[in-house]
Amino acid sequence: MNPFYLFKKFNTYKSFRKQIYLFIVVLYRKLKTMNKKKRNFDIMISTLNRDLFAKIVSQTHRFDKTSLLALQNAIRNSMEYYVYLEIGSHLGGSIQTHLLDPKCKKIYSIDKRLKIQPDNRCQKGYKYPKNSTKRMLNNLKQISINLNKITCFDDDASNIDISKIDPKPDICLIDGEHTTKAVISDFNFCLSVLNDNGVIIFHDSHILRSGINVILHNLKKKNIVFRAYNLPRNLILIELRNNCIFKKDKKLKILKIPVFNEWVRQFEDKGVIGLLALIYFLRIRSL
Ligand SMILES: C[S@@+](CC[C@H](N)C(=O)[O-])C[C@H]1O[C@@H](n2cnc3c(N)ncnc32)[C@H](O)[C@@H]1O
Repeated sequence: MNPFYLFKKFNTYKSFRKQIYLFIVVLYRKLKTMNKKKRNFDIMISTLNRDLFAKIVSQTHRFDKTSLLALQNAIRNSMEYYVYLEIGSHLGGSIQTHLLDPKCKKIYSIDKRLKIQPDNRCQKGYKYPKNSTKRMLNNLKQISINLNKITCFDDDASNIDISKIDPKPDICLIDGEHTTKAVISDFNFCLSVLNDNGVIIFHDSHILRSGINVILHNLKKKNIVFRAYNLPRNLILIELRNNCIFKKDKKLKILKIPVFNEWVRQFEDKGVIGLLALIYFLRIRSL
């Protein structure tokens, strides 16, 4: 290229210099704000700041939010990049913290987008009016205009070809159809696509307890190494194989409550009366 071409384009050498100078200033400012945003995010996640959930409504309790942030923080501190998969995204509330995270390189959102979904709590089903992926993506645009890292599937997880889940997820959140049959099927899907040392977490575990019992029982039967914990408020986390995320992360360690064995959980399922019966029973046993 003729070196004088640029000179001609900017008329004079002075204006050319000015353009270069402006370009450097703009680039410097952009890098500075990007760095500031990144630093802000690092501070917010490491202090488990629930404001990270502020932009899009999430159907999770504030204690659930703290636990989810603690899990995200533990995972992002244990690897260079991670991948997040979620079954049941609704408005995008539980995706937003991962979309913001520069260490999250890929997000899969699986949602059947039914207007009424079957639910263990009510026979008529649970209503989700105007539920659509388009609406969720519009919500997420408030957080980042770059939604390239999100892949959406409007389907039941069991219908998805597992070869499409590449790279494999390190965290799977199950928050889709709240029935025993669906939670078992969703778990089997997550297990088949999960990265070697990944974790699977259930939301609304109090509604899905019988399904989770079956899942834990099946894992034991198949001799798959795992550890399961309750996290406040209604989360159950399963870490598989050699993953010891709780050992490595202090914040998560503080939050964890052991998942009782099935014998104790029969009483838990029966609520306060069951719990009182359990305490009474344990007292008699210890006499
Ligand atoms: C409780 S909402 C999810 C809330 C979301 N995780 C949040 O924190 O805001 C449940 C979502 O699961 C979706 N869903 C229902 N049945 C499903 C299924 N079989 N597979 C996947 N998603 C399903 C619904 O469309 C709904 O959007």
